[in-house]
Amino acid sequence: MRVLVTGAAGFIGSHLCRRLVAEGHDVVGFDDLSEGSLANLVDVPEVRFIQGDLRESEAVGKALVGCHVVLHHGAMRSVQLSVVEPERFTDVNVLGTLNVLVAARNELASVVFSSSSSIYGNRERYPLTEDMEPRPRSPYAATKVAGEAYCRAWFESFGVPTVSLRYFNVYGPGQNPGSQYAAVIPRFVTACLAGSDPVIYGDGQQARDFTYIDDIVAANMLAAGMPQRARGQMVNIGGGRSPTSVNELLSMIARLTGTTPRPVRMPPQEGDIRRSEADISLARRLIGYDPGVPIQEGLRRTVEWFRTFNSAQRATPDGT
Ligand SMILES: NC(=O)c1ccc[n+]([C@@H]2O[C@H](COP(=O)([O-])OP(=O)(O)OC[C@H]3O[C@@H](n4cnc5c(N)ncnc54)[C@H](O)[C@@H]3O)[C@@H](O)[C@H]2O)c1
Repeated sequence: MRVLVTGAAGFIGSHLCRRLVAEGHDVVGFDDLSEGSLANLVDVPEVRFIQGDLRESEAVGKALVGCHVVLHHGAMRSVQLSVVEPERFTDVNVLGTLNVLVAARNELASVVFSSSSSIYGNRERYPLTEDMEPRPRSPYAATKVAGEAYCRAWFESFGVPTVSLRYFNVYGPGQNPGSQYAAVIPRFVTACLAGSDPVIYGDGQQARDFTYIDDIVAANMLAAGMPQRARGQMVNIGGGRSPTSVNELLSMIARLTGTTPRPVRMPPQEGDIRRSEADISLARRLIGYDPGVPIQEGLRRTVEWFRTFNSAQRATPDGT
């Protein structure tokens, strides 16, 4: 099967490429390298990489020629930055998704869309179920609601098989700790390993349903099979266990790294939500999703990876 992975040089996209290549698929990677890096793909030279911008319909159309499935993971993904640059987020995330869908229709390809738990906003009731109406609190979340709506419309109007996966806080090896908008787990792990003070925004009681990368990859493989009952649907992809507060998370990482960090407390971040907790029964029913990696084990693997990565970087400081 020929599969196009957009956002291939990013965190989730590069893991998808590795799994697809391991299973013998013909993989095309598409990324503008604005956030991602080719270093994430060095161990999968089999991927035919195309540097391109999702906002350019012609480039997207060319990349998709001959593809059977698109795992659409190219996007701008920082909630905080989306509050500063809402137009750019809309261009990349909404117009970019539209370009993928138009090309997928031409090629008779299926599309798995990477949506987000952020579409739910703050709620009175948890766990979150797909029948709750979206309440986006940030421009980023609004782009994901729009992307899902286009995916459903492309299925209803043109019969393009689509599934939107609503990811809940993905983490694991390879996640970029460097950017100003890095996610909490790579920030905490690298701070602890470096002996610096990690930053906690708000009171740290905000809780998240953390989902290990291997479970996200498994969900994509299942969704790519496009079971009839899943077409046009949006499904939660969470860790399958109760959420972890940011304070608890830091304690767990401190234990795993053998450190006693002194967190710096900062005001809550704009657009942030208080809690996330997925009900994953629909994903179990529609695509057979069954997450296998609990947070303790996922964090252990992640810390291990960062340790090895840091020592490899020290051994070759020029990054070669
Ligand atoms: N990581 C999470 O916790 C999480 C949670 C929910 C949803 N998601 C979604 O999953 C997808 C992948 O996220 P990720 O964590 O791997 O992020 P990432 O930033 O590592 O990967 C996104 C990739 O998209 C590329 N990109 C950005 N703009 C582009 C453009 N105009 N044209 C082509 N490529 C472009 C970037 O260079 C990057 O490599 C995104 O759609 C994101 O919104 C992620």
